[in-house]
Amino acid sequence: MSSDNSVGQFVARNKTAVIATIAAGATAVGAYCYYLQLQQTKKPSRKEEEGEKEAETEIKGGKKKKKSKRKSQALSAPVYPVDANGDPDLSNVADLSAEQKDKIAVGLKDKGNEFFKSQKYHDAIKFYTLAIEVKNDPVFYSNRSACYVSLGEQEKVVEDTTAALKLKPDYSKCLLRRATANESLGNYADAMFDLSAVSLYGDFNGSSVEPLLERNMNKQSMLVLKQKLEQHKPSQLPANTALASFFGIFKPETSFDNYNETSEADRTLLDALTKLYERTAEGYEQADLSFSKARELYKTLLDESPDNEELKKKAAIALEHVGIFKFLKNDPLAAHEDLKQAVEYFPRPNSYVYIALIMADKGQGEEYFENFEKALQIDPDCAAVYYHRGQMYFITQQFSEAGKDFEKAKSLNESNIFPYIQLACLTYREGKRSDSETLFSEARRKFPTAPEVPNFYAEILADQGDLAGARKQYEIAAKLEKALTGIHVGVSPLIGKATLLSREASVENFVEATELFEEACQLDPRSEQAKIGLAQLKLQQEDIDEAIALFEEAADLARSFDEKLQATTFAEASKIQKKIKADPIVSAKIEETLAAYRAQGILG
Ligand SMILES: *[C@@H]1O[C@H](CO)[C@@H](O)[C@H](O)[C@H]1NC(C)=O
Ligand SMILES: *[C@@H]1O[C@H](CO)[C@@H](O)[C@H](O)[C@H]1NC(C)=O
Ligand SMILES: *[C@@H]1O[C@H](CO)[C@@H](O)[C@H](O)[C@H]1NC(C)=O
Ligand SMILES: *[C@@H]1O[C@H](CO)[C@@H](O)[C@H](O)[C@H]1NC(C)=O
Ligand SMILES: *[C@@H]1O[C@H](CO)[C@@H](O)[C@H](O)[C@H]1NC(C)=O
Repeated sequence: MSSDNSVGQFVARNKTAVIATIAAGATAVGAYCYYLQLQQTKKPSRKEEEGEKEAETEIKGGKKKKKSKRKSQALSAPVYPVDANGDPDLSNVADLSAEQKDKIAVGLKDKGNEFFKSQKYHDAIKFYTLAIEVKNDPVFYSNRSACYVSLGEQEKVVEDTTAALKLKPDYSKCLLRRATANESLGNYADAMFDLSAVSLYGDFNGSSVEPLLERNMNKQSMLVLKQKLEQHKPSQLPANTALASFFGIFKPETSFDNYNETSEADRTLLDALTKLYERTAEGYEQADLSFSKARELYKTLLDESPDNEELKKKAAIALEHVGIFKFLKNDPLAAHEDLKQAVEYFPRPNSYVYIALIMADKGQGEEYFENFEKALQIDPDCAAVYYHRGQMYFITQQFSEAGKDFEKAKSLNESNIFPYIQLACLTYREGKRSDSETLFSEARRKFPTAPEVPNFYAEILADQGDLAGARKQYEIAAKLEKALTGIHVGVSPLIGKATLLSREASVENFVEATELFEEACQLDPRSEQAKIGLAQLKLQQEDIDEAIALFEEAADLARSFDEKLQATTFAEASKIQKKIKADPIVSAKIEETLAAYRAQGILG
């Protein structure tokens, strides 16, 4: 199953970049490449510009600065009109000139600042509010929002920052403040929108905004995924490609002892087994249904004659398969129950292998190995046991143990291709490149028409950076796959090649990669890797709705929580991107930024 992971890993490596396409927004081919370049290039200094703007407001505020200095020396005569009690009196302000009003507003704000400094937030709010009454200035709203931050009144923070942003949409300080408030309120998507805008305006150090963005992104995805999981949607079979590679390692079992032609249960079981090893999409679906049906039929029969050992043996076969299908459909608990019942009826090596896999899935390594021992006690020559145990050793980097098990599996059944390939991959991982080449050659000689060999060899080549060579191997694998009946490597070579193509951004590659992913989606509609790959390209083509739909489907299909979370993250990120594009101010800013980078020759 290791070949299945390539796209997932690719996506994982590019996670931040994909998330960051939020900020890239309107893009052409190669959005993430673009972003990575942005990361490395010094941004045009918005800070300086901003500095100028701040200076402007200061100037507008009149000789305020000097004045406030003088003020503190002269024990402050207020610059705003006061009543007999010394409280601000704004009853006549309406008639004053704009210049006079500005002066008064700034005076009120300065008073607010004084209160703020001495942490008298309610007084500060009062003066900022008066300042706002005199002049609708974003700075005053911003200042008042700072008070609400200190008071922990997040809704008010959102209100004031929103007011400030209406007057000055690129007010980064307010965007950041609103994002923080929205995060506290649990509105992570809103926070992400603001943070994306902040990162776009570049007033804040990108490396300080990005963790915030990522944190909100994680919280949002977690929230959405939790809600989704609570709906308990019926689980689906995994991709046909995954099913074929999973059952490919086991010895085909297309008959059983004491078959009774006149028994419906027996006929159903035989049909299920036959369908399972047909290696077709319909076959897997029908096998799934037939095993369940056979199980029910045996259950009824066993209710009538509970001590019939022959029946139990057959029921065990049905239950074992029902169990493994449940496991594959991502319901390990129910799967475990069925498999325990199966070994009670009649212990079979494969049942223990499957239980071992469930244990591994739960992270219970010890029980994993115990179950393999049980399987070997029944059949010391069961190749599948050695193969799966070898894989576990491989994953946990116990390479020499893994090697021994793969060798054993190979010697037990020389006509099964998987141990050959795993040995070759293992040898490569151990750094013995030429030995690995030899093993691949051996496999190729022995299985000249097997698509597995070029499919896995492609991964090795890609890992070495020989992308052209890897693509060629995927092409060979795809051709061999087509020539065979039934599913062997399925859509893996299509996905593999498409992934390589999308890594080397060019218009032709992009078009071809899209076609390959589309073909993979069509051939194997439950392949979440095909969907994720296609979704990413759709995102870059600005087909955001399609991308969101594909990411969400992928999240439903994904098996592990982490994979689900990742696909959900992409979906949520795409939704933010959509929102950003719909926002005229922010998307105009994106255009401006892109134009600037184009002018610098960063974008082709
Ligand atoms: C009020 O706004 C000005 C300008 O942004 C800023 O320099 C000052 O620190 C702010 N005061 C408070 C209390 O936020
Ligand atoms: C969070 O911020 C958004 C702006 O992005 C705003 O429209 C929304 O109302 C805020 N959420 C709350 C609960 O105030
Ligand atoms: C941005 O922040 C990072 C980490 O906080 C720091 O290492 C880096 O020097 C900062 N860069 C600039 C341009 O301020
Ligand atoms: C075969 O199945 C039929 C129908 O269930 C049953 O009547 C018959 O006894 C079975 N024969 C044997 C040999 O078990
Ligand atoms: C060996 O593996 C091949 C290919 O999977 C299979 O057809 C065959 O039945 C296996 N033989 C044994 C003895 O396991």
